[in-house]
Parts: sequence; structure tokens; C-alpha cells
Amino acid sequence: MDIVIKTDVHSVSRLAANIIARVVREKPNCVLGLATGSTPIGTYRELIRMHKEEGLDFSQVSTFNLDEYLGVGLALDKPYKEDQSYARFMVEELFHQLNIKQENIHLPDGLTKDPDEFCKAYEQAIRDAGGIDLQLLGIGGDGHLAFNEPGTPFDSRTHVQLLTDQTRKDNYKAFFHPAGMTWEEMPTKALTMGIGTIMEAKEWLVIATGSSKAEIVRQSLEGEVSTRVTASVIQIYPRKATVILDKKAAANLQGDSSSNH
Ligand code: PGA
Repeated sequence: MDIVIKTDVHSVSRLAANIIARVVREKPNCVLGLATGSTPIGTYRELIRMHKEEGLDFSQVSTFNLDEYLGVGLALDKPYKEDQSYARFMVEELFHQLNIKQENIHLPDGLTKDPDEFCKAYEQAIRDAGGIDLQLLGIGGDGHLAFNEPGTPFDSRTHVQLLTDQTRKDNYKAFFHPAGMTWEEMPTKALTMGIGTIMEAKEWLVIATGSSKAEIVRQSLEGEVSTRVTASVIQIYPRKATVILDKKAAANLQGDSSSNH
């Protein structure tokens, strides 16, 4: 695991986008695993800039998103208030500004009538695409990786996940409340790739920013490897993992394994 500490959020976003762009240039038909939440927004803006100004080409790229709330789905015809799906987030924050093909975009279907069957099909679709070349990941306030909440086994596959109160509160504050939605409209469950699914990606890019993440970043990167903090699995991921933090998120780290840039 390489830990890179940058001075601010913008530098984190620029470096993360550069790593994604490197993979896209080296393998134009690469498979990217993508994440949602507040953290990757800057990275996505930088990728859009690289596409528009530098011609970074997504025409052959495929994507798989990590997770989606259960019970919601893309509703672009509805006002923002009525659609907080991750599908909508991805379209607005990234896809509609890139030359990516609709048929190459994969998101868990929050409106599926048969979640268990859907989860199996999602796993198969990832395998059929040849696996994920680069997986972008954030770290949740309760240490979750994707929506794998505390206690989720490291060999878990794509599944239905009950969200913790902390996750619901964090995401309500960041997204649902600003959109004018009530606490009751905040979903209680999600579909998420399992830890075992994510472990199979060929490379990881983990980003975390802000002082609110400092303690969970320390526990994830330097604490006990345990399902209590599922992001601690980063420590035993066997392939290349780059963790990019801003100074605030790195503030509690003790070790000397990190490099400052
Ligand atoms: P955040 O979420 O980027 O909104 O902090 C991270 C996560 O839940 O993985």
C-alpha cells in the first residue's frame, strides 16, 4: 500500500484523476470501478476537464459502480428532490460530460424486483467484462468500504446491505437534507459489491479527505485488520493500492509508510 499525503483536497483530486487517466491511456478499453459520495466529486471534475481539454477518451471504457440505495433508481425526469439515486449522481457528476457509451455503464439496479438474483447477475457481468482494472474507493465515516458496513465478512459478494445509523445520518446530511428530503425518505438498505468482489479488482485507488475522516483513516490503515472496520482490509489487499489523503485526513497517522507530495 502506497500512502500519499497531499496538502489539500484539490491536489488529492488531481492526483487521483491522473492515476485513473493513466489506466485509461494504457488500456483504452479498461474496466473502471467507480464510487459515489462527496469525496470523488473533485476527481470526477478533473476527469471531465481532462476529457474536454486534453481529449482523454472514454469511448471504449466500461464502468461498474460499487453500490446503490435499494428502492431508488434513475429518474432524470423528476426534480432533484425526488431522486437521490447513485445512478443520478453518476450521470450528473460524470457520465453526461464524458464520451462514455451508455451500454458500457453498469450500476446496481436499486429498483430490481429480485435483489438476490440481481446481485448474482452483477457479479457475472463483472466477470464477463474481464474484471475491474482499477477500483476507486472512499472510506465511510463508520469505516465502510462501498456499503460494506461493520461486520460484513471479507469474503462477501454483491449483496443487500442494511445501512448503519451513522451511514444514514452522514448521507442524509450530505445529500438528502440539502435536496430538501425528509429523514423518512432516507433509504435503509442498499445493494453493494462485497469485500470479496472488490478484493478481486486488479488495482485500488483509495481517497479520503477532511478532518472528519482522520480517526477512521487511522483505524483503517494502521489499526487491527477486522470486519469491525471493513476498510482495514486495505492492509491485506494483495495488489497495488494507492491511498491518497489530504493533510487533514492523514492527521492521526503514526507510521512512516507515507510519502508527502
Ligand atoms: P463520502 O462517503 O465521500 O461522502 O464521505 C465515503 C463513503 O461512504 O465511502
